Amino acid sequence: MGGVEGRGDETAAVKYKITLVPGDGIGPEVTTATTKVVEAAGVDVEWEVIDAGAVALERHGAYLPDSLLESIRRNGVALKGPVTTPIGGGFTSINVTLRQQLCLYANFRPIRNLPEVKTRFGDVDLVVIRENTEDLYSGLEHVVVPGVVESLKIITADASTRIARFAFDFARRKRRKRVTAVHKANIMKLSDGLFLECVREVAGLYPEIEYEESIVDNTCMQLVLDPQQFDVLLLENLYGDIVSDLGAGLVGGLGLVPGANLGEDCAVFEPVHGSAPSIAGKNLANPTAMILSAVLLFRHLGEFEKAQRVLSAVEAVYRGGEALTSDLGGKATTTEFTEAVVQHLVN
Ligand code: NAI
Repeated sequence: MGGVEGRGDETAAVKYKITLVPGDGIGPEVTTATTKVVEAAGVDVEWEVIDAGAVALERHGAYLPDSLLESIRRNGVALKGPVTTPIGGGFTSINVTLRQQLCLYANFRPIRNLPEVKTRFGDVDLVVIRENTEDLYSGLEHVVVPGVVESLKIITADASTRIARFAFDFARRKRRKRVTAVHKANIMKLSDGLFLECVREVAGLYPEIEYEESIVDNTCMQLVLDPQQFDVLLLENLYGDIVSDLGAGLVGGLGLVPGANLGEDCAVFEPVHGSAPSIAGKNLANPTAMILSAVLLFRHLGEFEKAQRVLSAVEAVYRGGEALTSDLGGKATTTEFTEAVVQHLVN
């Protein structure tokens, strides 16, 4: 699998079959926005639309229909909107299940400022690389006795080494200077200790890339004080989940940050944000994160020129400041923002 920066030369007039999961909450709105933008960019795509989450439960009686996994395995790539995971017993997260079943072991989230989006810091350009298959997200929880619950944190040498290789390979290909492994090995000496041991071994194979380690609580404080000091952050699953939302906050919020879940055989592209139930169905969601997830997808497919056109159109809308959604203090609806991006593409 080539990775989010692309794997080959652009091929003209290729038709791609891509699994599309609108999801629920704001998912269908940001998905519709994205397919309109992709169409305007002239990428020849046939979307295979598959329900997941609350919508799938209602329509097909299954939260995660088998057809979804089959479709992604067949097409190799998917663009996915957020799905709600109800809190409490009886539901396994669709996201966790998808990542585990398809072995999408690397979660990739580039965190960058967009033009004219007012934030505390400019020039933020960091990448969060998160192990996606184990840790406390293994779903191994049980009641020991009433009032006492045990939740198992699984860290393996294989998965730690695999994600470390992914991070250093990425840093080497993209000429990034430094990889920071984020951990809590001072307290979780065995689990985070093993993670660090594996990362150190891999780091030794990439002498041109600076390697450092940082305790997760201090990392969060450093991120809000001086995010420019970081380059590539490498984290276990839970820390990666939390730190990527923090990172989104640094550049303007969850509506802006795209993501990719990458494995050997498949890749699923999705925004960092969730289903945002409080604004769902109101035409208020910012579709930028989903549109930029499609940019990552098209780079992955080798459609560099089209990916760049979409990115430039989104940046042009921000530069013009004419169609900001309410999360960024503007008045534009999802539809109006989308239309502004489309206008930049077709003009
Ligand atoms: P959330 O990301 O849905 O919302 C957090 C805050 O950000 C809310 O104030 C929301 O209105 C705002 N926000 C998020 N995306 C936005 C957008 N595109 N435009 C404007 N504002 C936006 O996180 P929350 O509330 O913790 O989770 C809601 C549900 O989503 C939960 O069931 C959770 O499990 C699920 N979720 C799903 C994910 C996925 O499918 N990949 C990822 C994260 C959460």
